[in-house]
Amino acid sequence: MRRPMVAGNWKMHGTRASVAELIKGLRQLALSTGVDVAVFPPCLYVSQVVEGLAGKSMVVGAQNCAYEPLQGALTGEVAASQLHDAGCKMVLVGHSERRLLLSESDEAVARKFAAAQSCGLTPILCVGETREQREAGKTLEVVSRQLDSVIESLGVGVFAQAVIAYEPVWAIGTGLTATPDEAQSVHAAIRAQLAAENAEVARGVRILYGGSVKAANAAELFGMPDIDGGLVGGASLNADEFGAICRAAGN
Ligand code: 13P
Repeated sequence: MRRPMVAGNWKMHGTRASVAELIKGLRQLALSTGVDVAVFPPCLYVSQVVEGLAGKSMVVGAQNCAYEPLQGALTGEVAASQLHDAGCKMVLVGHSERRLLLSESDEAVARKFAAAQSCGLTPILCVGETREQREAGKTLEVVSRQLDSVIESLGVGVFAQAVIAYEPVWAIGTGLTATPDEAQSVHAAIRAQLAAENAEVARGVRILYGGSVKAANAAELFGMPDIDGGLVGGASLNADEFGAICRAAGN
């Protein structure tokens, strides 16, 4: 039985003041004990959020880490070891905005995944196809290649300590959501690909759906057998909306 998870990716949003407001709202949420909840603020605000959520059962993560695990001469980057030191427990790797807008390669994503794990952080590997790729019938091919690049370089066993997020690029920030059936079929394919290598790892790994998840569509998505929760962008900036999504996953 996989424990559901809801993760809020704040992306490049927030100021010290708005983050303080959001923390206040999150602290007031009554969360079900049946769901893991994590938030991913911009790196600059990680310490503020770790301190602000102290005592609340919410994990704090980062949106990215350097491909080198340890601190060193790499201007502008943040090492997984530093994120761990700041109180992060998780980190997103391979978000489509980084793959597509910042040209992050499959190889770089795999290195970041390894860097995260080597510092005790749980990576959330993000995968997903663009609209053009979906229309060309290439969804499973693209997602499978993104997953394979991590399996090939690190082995399938690393997914015993990781989370996967399927985020179709065309559904991110657009208000368009994959239907529960569309999402389920990709989630099932991801799990089958892992199962071909290691059935136990495949059964245990949580696969989150991301792309315009909101309170109104969360329950239907999370009701699918291979959808173990959500990676939420815009709706995670509103504590009440985020809380409703967490409740949908907990039920
Ligand atoms: P939205 O929920 O705003 O579509 O963003 C999804 C996402 O990219 C989360 O990582």
